[in-house]
Amino acid sequence: MTNHVTIHKGLEGIAVTDTQLSLVDGEKGHLVYRGHWAKELALKYTYEHVAFLLWHGRLPSDDELRAFREQMVEARFLPAYLKAILDQLPKNMDMMSVLRTAVSALGDDSYGWPPTVEQAMAVTAKVPTIIAYRYRRLNGQEPLEPRRDLSHTANYLYMLFGKEPSPAHVSALDAYLILTAEHGMNASTFSARVTTSTRSDLISAVTSAIGTMKGPLHGGAPSEVDETLAAIGTKENAEPYLRSLLERGERIMGFGHRVYKTRDPRAEALAVVAKRVAGDDPWLDLAVHVEEVAIKLLAEYKPGRKLYTNVEFYAAAVLRAVGLPKELYTPTFTLSRMAGWTAHVLEQAADNRLIRPQSVYTGPMPEGEA
Ligand code: ACO
Repeated sequence: MTNHVTIHKGLEGIAVTDTQLSLVDGEKGHLVYRGHWAKELALKYTYEHVAFLLWHGRLPSDDELRAFREQMVEARFLPAYLKAILDQLPKNMDMMSVLRTAVSALGDDSYGWPPTVEQAMAVTAKVPTIIAYRYRRLNGQEPLEPRRDLSHTANYLYMLFGKEPSPAHVSALDAYLILTAEHGMNASTFSARVTTSTRSDLISAVTSAIGTMKGPLHGGAPSEVDETLAAIGTKENAEPYLRSLLERGERIMGFGHRVYKTRDPRAEALAVVAKRVAGDDPWLDLAVHVEEVAIKLLAEYKPGRKLYTNVEFYAAAVLRAVGLPKELYTPTFTLSRMAGWTAHVLEQAADNRLIRPQSVYTGPMPEGEA
């Protein structure tokens, strides 16, 4: 049977909606959140400012920010039943599966249709607490209650490591969380919007998104950049190592992007942040050298492919500098994307149309007439 429908595998190049939330321009290397350059937001503001911007459409006034922070602080605490669930989960369950399960378990009647900013805030505020609770339990440490006097980002680091983080670490991690908070119609955001389009609740939408983020083709962590740099070891070894990797037809982690055909603007901002926070770390010195060599070799081995540094490369440097272990890289990316996902849920619900594409049947037909 012929079906006159064009198949767009991977939906590449297909726009499914208009959005007020972000512009991702891969040719110019532009990333804009609601009229603001993401890299400027990252260097000047906090995660709370950007969550407010994504949910409300504008940056908050000082009074609005104060009230917003107070509400978010109150929403940080986990209910006792959720702690009991976390305590019951098997030790060999990875953090992304733990997050998917714990966020799903939050979904009581208070998350009914339509989704609201209050719901978005309630779940976004709890994700750092869930990660830190599980992290400390797995490490044989008593989980810590959130502190009311610390920002979203500072409190996350405090709950993980049990001491108040330095302002330099907080602003570096804030920059990372802001730069990865939103990124157009990526796979996990699409998942969240599909779920919302059925008029399902916000918790179900975010749970779908976390499941999608977990896959290595999406949440693929900067931990692989860490591993490449560890294997290179010294500046002298950078060129021979990368050359032999390209000769074998392998990829250099932290380079290339489906959308960006120039240096990823997030990489550009994170390079600045990495230099601020880890300026004298020999690892960063090696990273800067590896970037130079990699760009030169990619132009030589893959001419015309426009392969440049992506967000993962300097994300590794920043996350490492603030003390996060590799297993928390993807969960921390998830924590940041909560603001973006929930903003998309609100936008989808406000102008909803069921997302229901088609498929082309290529199997056999039954014998005989219908
Ligand atoms: N190193 C070497 N060669 C590369 C790289 C790389 N990092 N990236 C792409 N290429 C080459 C491919 O081999 C291919 O060459 P060919 O046409 O001669 O076979 C060409 O460039 C085009 O590659 P595609 O796979 O078609 O490009 P795509 O847009 O699908 O890939 C991706 C994007 C997956 C990010 C890719 O660049 C890659 O694998 N990079 C390394 C992994 C990485 O850094 N991932 C994080 C991405 S950022 C994020 O997801 C948040």
